[in-house]
Amino acid sequence: MNVRTPSDEDVISLVGDAVAAPSLHNAQPWRFRYLRHLRTFELYADFDRALPYTDPRARSLHIGCGAALLNLRVALAHGGWHVRTRLLPDAADPTFVAAVRLVGPGTGDADLASLHPAVTERHSSRFPFDEDPIPDDLRTTLTETARREGAELAFPSPWHLQYLLELVREAETSERADPAARRELAEWTRTDAPSVNFADDGVPDYAFGPARSGGGAAVRDFAGTRQVTGRATAVFEAEPQIACLSTTHDRPEDWLRAGQAMERLLLLATTEGLVGSLVTQPLERPDVRWLLRDPVTGAGHPQMLLRLGHGPKGPRTPRRPVSEVLDIWP
Ligand SMILES: Cc1cc2nc3c(=O)[nH]c(=O)nc-3n(C[C@H](O)[C@H](O)[C@H](O)COP(=O)(O)O)c2cc1C
Repeated sequence: MNVRTPSDEDVISLVGDAVAAPSLHNAQPWRFRYLRHLRTFELYADFDRALPYTDPRARSLHIGCGAALLNLRVALAHGGWHVRTRLLPDAADPTFVAAVRLVGPGTGDADLASLHPAVTERHSSRFPFDEDPIPDDLRTTLTETARREGAELAFPSPWHLQYLLELVREAETSERADPAARRELAEWTRTDAPSVNFADDGVPDYAFGPARSGGGAAVRDFAGTRQVTGRATAVFEAEPQIACLSTTHDRPEDWLRAGQAMERLLLLATTEGLVGSLVTQPLERPDVRWLLRDPVTGAGHPQMLLRLGHGPKGPRTPRRPVSEVLDIWP
């Protein structure tokens, strides 16, 4: 077998693309290892970066790791590598979430490779979006893309959407009233100049977007009950376009699949000129999460709500240096 060996610079650049992935509160709960003799990347969940109150089962943590895995697969495909990916390859080690082995002969997956420019262009946009609808054929393509990664994407009917928005508002209200939730949010948000300029994780205040003064959009307000100096207010879209991503089961491997599906369709959306933000407050409450299920089929486990549309791009947020999350072994 003739497999091109990546140089150390290649490995660093590939992992640099992986860590551009979204994660809950930008906690970046991952570590990578490249085993040169096995030509294998290993991805580990970093439970020291878990959010025990907001995400007690580490479901969101796995979704973030799944997104980083998808970015790694895109970067490898773009570099021309053909890979074999295994989820949770060691039953005895739940932190070992994926192994990606370079195999040959063959070239990278062209569909994945075409998404590469979007890896660094994609950012969460918490700004108001235009009201113009996402074309039906693009909705269909996004749905098919999610399915290729083992997840289902559904755009709810107008009345179900209103119900979802109510659940988002209700979850947001209860989060604001909950001291433990407020504490965890404050821990992962940066609202004063030194922390915004020097932190390499968490959500900086410049990424909060404007405070909502009207409209129906489902956008998490990272300021919580705090005042952010100089923050603008805005009216959000009256009819946000929300899609619900779900999986058939609800185990760690399903969360990893959901994360890959989410990132793949966010990259595709970026390529198609859309912007997006993620919404998970109702998913963080077990009693509310099940109410998000499709009322017609009643099937599936909701994993993520995505708000998509045309609008301003979001700003780039910080990431920890690759040297902090990568070990290269001989
Ligand atoms: C599992 C998960 C849950 C998230 N929940 C929310 C959310 O409720 N509201 C929100 O605005 N962003 C949410 N995000 C997006 C993160 O805040 C965002 O990815 C992170 O701050 C990094 O910024 P970026 O997406 O611009 O790279 C979530 C991301 C993940 C992976």
